[in-house]
Amino acid sequence: MALFSDEYQADPHPALAELRQAGPVHRVVPATNVPFWLVTRWAEARQILADPSLSKRQPVDGLPQELRAVLSAQLLLQDPPDHTRLRRLVSGAFTPRRVADLRPRIERITDRLLDGLTGTPEVDLIDALAFPLPLEVICELLGIPVEERGSFRGWSNTIILGDLASTDLAEAVRQLSAYLRGLFPRKRAQPTDDLLGALLAVEGDRLDPDELISMAVLLLVAGHETTVNLIGNAVYLLDRWPEQKRRLLDDPGLVPAAIEEVLRMASPTAMTTYRVTTQPITVGDTTIPAGEQVLISLLSVNRDDDRFTDPDTFEPSRADGGHLSFGHGIHFCLGAPLARLEGQIAIGRLLARYPDIRLAGPWQELRWRPGLLMHGLTTLPVRVLP
Ligand code: HEM
Repeated sequence: MALFSDEYQADPHPALAELRQAGPVHRVVPATNVPFWLVTRWAEARQILADPSLSKRQPVDGLPQELRAVLSAQLLLQDPPDHTRLRRLVSGAFTPRRVADLRPRIERITDRLLDGLTGTPEVDLIDALAFPLPLEVICELLGIPVEERGSFRGWSNTIILGDLASTDLAEAVRQLSAYLRGLFPRKRAQPTDDLLGALLAVEGDRLDPDELISMAVLLLVAGHETTVNLIGNAVYLLDRWPEQKRRLLDDPGLVPAAIEEVLRMASPTAMTTYRVTTQPITVGDTTIPAGEQVLISLLSVNRDDDRFTDPDTFEPSRADGGHLSFGHGIHFCLGAPLARLEGQIAIGRLLARYPDIRLAGPWQELRWRPGLLMHGLTTLPVRVLP
């Protein structure tokens, strides 16, 4: 199937356009994994994401113990009422107002990282900015001590890219959980005014110990890799659409709209929206039986020409918004206000400081991260002329 080819990895859009043309939903039978249904059109994706009969529960039998505990207690993989209870515990930390308060800290981190670019004619922007920025922000928000953040890069990468059955992934989850279990008593002894401090204060009462670990792992991982991709994809798209980059340089007030357009054109996650049918559902002309896995291709639905005019054109001023890159319905991304703010600050400050930034080589040679889940660049070599 085209979805598993090298051509798809290099550029998924031609294959997705064909699938969209053929219909809104397709049965996919991978060579080594369970079959699933793939939704390729916007209206049907919204229908599925809003349908309470679909479940997020994932079968965890046969997985290593640590992984089973983290997955079965995880917010993203719960249905109501557990989902409602867990989401309420953390949602206060991510309101647009609370997130706006983080602006000065995010700007400070960004400026420090951008200082590091000066004097280096060619630099990997993933390594220098896109990766460290969201990691530092989420660690600050949670309250991970600065000097202990070193191992997070490896853990986070392995967890997000790993196959659930892989031993590397289970080992990364085990090490991260062990680190957190060691950190919690220290934070209990000296309560801190951060998100882990707030969660530790309600532990035992509204949150059990597995749920606490699981929430911390989810926030660290979900809040990190996705935002790395957003920043990298933004720099890539602005290089490919130089007249739009020029508009942003002339009018920095357009940056928030440009970030929305990056989210639409190059969704940082490709197929992370997993659901299981608990009863037969009808999508277009197709009936999906109960007990089947359904995934949404966010890359595809965001380019559906039934919804978006000229969907392959990067146009920050477009009137037809409504990308689904943060999902839809009760699992809508909790971190969306934070991700948006980080993207806006990163791109706004980068362009203000290095207006002549450009890719160091042809875009066709850029390498995209392997696998079907994430959509981001592995490296992003750029030239900056201060
Ligand atoms: C859920 C995307 C950044 C935390 C989701 C979902 C998507 C998504 C598509 C829904 C999954 C589904 O319906 O199955 C993104 C993208 C991001 C981003 C594209 C960056 C550009 C963040 C950040 C955080 C975060 C910064 C936290 C610090 C979460 C959480 C959920 C979630 C906790 C689960 C919500 C629930 O189940 O109720 N995200 N995310 N995300 N995201 Fe994000």
